[in-house]
Amino acid sequence: MILVTGGAGYIGSHANKELNSAGYETVVLDNMSYGHEDFLKWGVLEKVDLADLESLRNVFQKYKIDAVMHFAAFTYVGESVEDPQKYYLNNLRNTLNLLQVMNEFKVRKLVFSSTCATYGNPQEIPITETHPQNPISPYGKGKFMVEKVLEDYSAAYGLCYVSLRYFNAAGADPEGDIGERHNPETHLIPLILDAAMGKREDIKIFGTDYPTPDGTCIRDYIHVTDLADAHIKALKYLENGGKSEVFNLGNGNGFSVREVIEEARKVTGKKIKATETVRRPGDPPILVGSSDKARKILKWKPKYDDLSQIISTAWEWHKKDN
Ligand code: UFG
Repeated sequence: MILVTGGAGYIGSHANKELNSAGYETVVLDNMSYGHEDFLKWGVLEKVDLADLESLRNVFQKYKIDAVMHFAAFTYVGESVEDPQKYYLNNLRNTLNLLQVMNEFKVRKLVFSSTCATYGNPQEIPITETHPQNPISPYGKGKFMVEKVLEDYSAAYGLCYVSLRYFNAAGADPEGDIGERHNPETHLIPLILDAAMGKREDIKIFGTDYPTPDGTCIRDYIHVTDLADAHIKALKYLENGGKSEVFNLGNGNGFSVREVIEEARKVTGKKIKATETVRRPGDPPILVGSSDKARKILKWKPKYDDLSQIISTAWEWHKKDN
């Protein structure tokens, strides 16, 4: 059995689906604070909060857990600046709880959801795994701290882990079973699609004076199904005795906010009104990753490597979900 924490969330539910398609049995552990009931289509649910050690132990008692994929976390960078305690308690302390119980039950394999936010403001592009890590938000710092904890637990307790540093997760399950749904929504692509549907008047472009060719921020968008696939490959890597590692997961191509809006106009055939506004604090101008290491060691290759496919799957889901 594979334990999938946060399996009712955006990336966790896609990984849960892929795990089941690959023949694994899963237990989804989710406190359902941000998770969605209708994303629970595979495996069994244990509605448990990682803050609750006793309930967590009961789950490990009830099922024979072979490995853990740990997605459960809060993910709003801006909120983490305003309320760091909320983030450190959930993303750091609750991860320590999970690791503690894994250790008690001698579960030694973990795939951890990390983030490109652990790098902070990039010094060079593309960002490789050896780029210095100077996270600037409590969100990024908490994920970075967990990465460091994993190094120590690996050395001391024989934990074998893979940390996956995602760039910008985007898109939806191509079969339309699940997709991106956040409340509140802050991510660029779903907000653009809201504007395309007329649910919002416009999409705000946060900053047009960045040192990029068109003045707007550049990001590396990676399809959520490709992320899910990387998790399966990371799990198999650990099952085959691979040593603890970290990998970037991105497409290696950067798109500006204006380019994403333009592509969404093509995909949806809708006029999408864009309004230029001030920068959002804390956004680095460019985040583009090199995933050569994952390609080489995990033999991972993104299937949705063009932006139009990513936006198309998001659009299909968005229409269905609204
Ligand atoms: N943006 C807009 N208008 C909007 C929303 C976003 O112009 O209404 C811009 C942002 O300024 C940014 C880009 O679109 O330049 C992408 O923004 P998102 O909020 O979609 O994604 P982020 O790059 O801020 O955040 C993502 C993940 C985080 C992760 C972070 C790492 O959502 O969890 O990448 O940098 F931490």
